[in-house]
Amino acid sequence: MKKKNRKKIKDILSQCKEELEVFVMGWIRTRRDSKGEFSFLEINDGSCLKNLQVILDHSIDSYECNSVKLHTGSCVSVVGHLVNSPGKGQQLELQATLIEVYGEADPDHYPLQKKHHSFEFLRDIAHLRPRTNTFGAVMRVRNRLSFAIHNFFQDRGFFYLHTPIITTNDCEGAGEMFQVTTLNLDSTPIVNGKADYSQDFFGEKAGLTVSGQLEGEVYAMALSEVYTFGPTFRAENSNTSRHLSEFWMVEPEMAFYDLEDDMNLAEELLRYLFKDVLSYCIDDLEFFNKQIDKTILERHQGIIENQFERISYSEAIKLLDQSNKSFAYSVEWGSNLQSEHERYISEVVFKKPVIIFDYPEEIKPFYMKGNNDGKTVRAMDVLLPKLGEIIGGSQREDDYNALKNRMKLKNLSSDDYKWYLDLRRFGSAPHAGFGLGFERLVQYVTGMENIRDVIPFPRTPKNAKF
Ligand code: 4AD
Ligand code: MG
Repeated sequence: MKKKNRKKIKDILSQCKEELEVFVMGWIRTRRDSKGEFSFLEINDGSCLKNLQVILDHSIDSYECNSVKLHTGSCVSVVGHLVNSPGKGQQLELQATLIEVYGEADPDHYPLQKKHHSFEFLRDIAHLRPRTNTFGAVMRVRNRLSFAIHNFFQDRGFFYLHTPIITTNDCEGAGEMFQVTTLNLDSTPIVNGKADYSQDFFGEKAGLTVSGQLEGEVYAMALSEVYTFGPTFRAENSNTSRHLSEFWMVEPEMAFYDLEDDMNLAEELLRYLFKDVLSYCIDDLEFFNKQIDKTILERHQGIIENQFERISYSEAIKLLDQSNKSFAYSVEWGSNLQSEHERYISEVVFKKPVIIFDYPEEIKPFYMKGNNDGKTVRAMDVLLPKLGEIIGGSQREDDYNALKNRMKLKNLSSDDYKWYLDLRRFGSAPHAGFGLGFERLVQYVTGMENIRDVIPFPRTPKNAKF
C-alpha cells in the first residue's frame, strides 16, 4: 500500500460511506480487548476531534507479532475495510486486514494514560499535550482563526505587512522590552557609568518588539490599509491567566479612518471571526461547550447577533462609582481600569461586549490623537465578558506640532522618533488602528481559562523551558 493512498480520519468520517479498502495512520488513543478474539482500537490522527474505531480480528496475520506493541500512544498504520458499524457511538468502523506499528509507547513510561489530565500537568509536557483532545481542538481552532484573520483583511484590500521583531523603539512606552544584545554581560563596556551600546551589535540599544504599530503607520501612509500579524514580546512581570511574555498580535492600521471607523472595524472583525469559527470548527466548539464552558456557544451567538455597547471612559467611571461594589482597586477619573472593572462593565452591567473610548491622556501612550477637551485622547478598548480587554486601539495624532508636544510631555526624544514625526511632516493623513491579542481571542473562543493553554509553547516569567 502506498503512502499516497492514506486517508485522513476527518475525510473518512465526513464521506460517510463504506469502502472496500482504506489506509489510515495515526496514534492509538485506547485499546480494548474482547473475548480474546477481537481488539478495538481508537485511532486519532489530529485531523479532527473524533477517533476512528478499528476492529482487529486476532486471526489476521499481522496481529500476532504486533499485539504487544499496540498500546495507548503507539503510532500505527492500518489497512482495512470501512464498514457501517453495528456498535453505538460511531457510524463507521475499520475492519483491519493489516496493521503495522511505527513507534511503540511504553505503557510504563508514556504519560498520557488517563482520560483526563489536569492542564497544569499537561503544561509540563508541552511536547505531548497536543495528543490530547483538548489541545488538538485548541490547535485546530487557533489555525482556523489565523486563516480567517487573513481572509477578513485580504477580502477588504488590506496588505499583510511584516514588521520587524528586533527594534529600537518602545511603541507602548511602558518599558517592557526584552533587550537584544551581543555584549558580554559579565564585562559590559561602561562609559560615564553607563553601558556603551555603540559597541553593541546594532550600535545602539535594541530589543524585541512590543507592537508593530509604528511600522504599520509607515506603510499605512503609503498603501492606505495594512495589517501585521506576528509575535510580540513583553517583559512585564504579570503572572495572570491573561498575560504571556510572547504573544501574537493582529494590528491593522488604516489611513483615512477616524476613531469611529476604527471601532466599527474592530467590531466587524470580531463578529466575522466568531461566525467563521462556528461554521468551520463546530465539532471542536461543541467539545469545548461540553467539557470546558457550557456557555460558549450561546455567548458566541450573542456576539454575532448583537451590537457592541459603546461608552466613554468618563461614563464607565460613573457606572463603577454607582455600582456600590467593593473592588480590590478603587477607581477615580484618571486611573487605569483594572480587569475587575472591565469585567464588571461588560459582564454585569451590559452582559455583552463593550467598547470604552476617550481615555485620559495621562494613562495612554504618546501617539494617540488628543480630543478638544485637552484631557482625553481618542483611544478605545474592546472588552469581552469573562475576559476583559481583547483589543486596544486609537486614532493616531496626525498633527506634527501636537505630536511633538505630547512626546515632550512623555519625555521622548524627537531625535529617536524623527522618522515617525516625518510621517506628519510629509503628507500626513488622519489614521487609526488597533491591536487584537490573538491568544485572548483563542481563549475566549474556546473558553480555556488559562492563556498558557492556547499557545503551543507558552513563555511566561520564569518559564521558557521548551
Ligand atoms: O493594548 P495594547 O498594549 O496595544 C498596543 O500594543 C497597540 N500598539 C495596538 C495598536 O493600536 N496597533 O495591546 C493590544 C492587545 C491587548 O488588547 C491584548 O489583547 C493583547 O494585545 N495583549 C496581550 N496578550 C497576551 N499577553 C500580554 N502580555 C498582552 N499584552 C497585550
Ligand atoms: Mg491595552
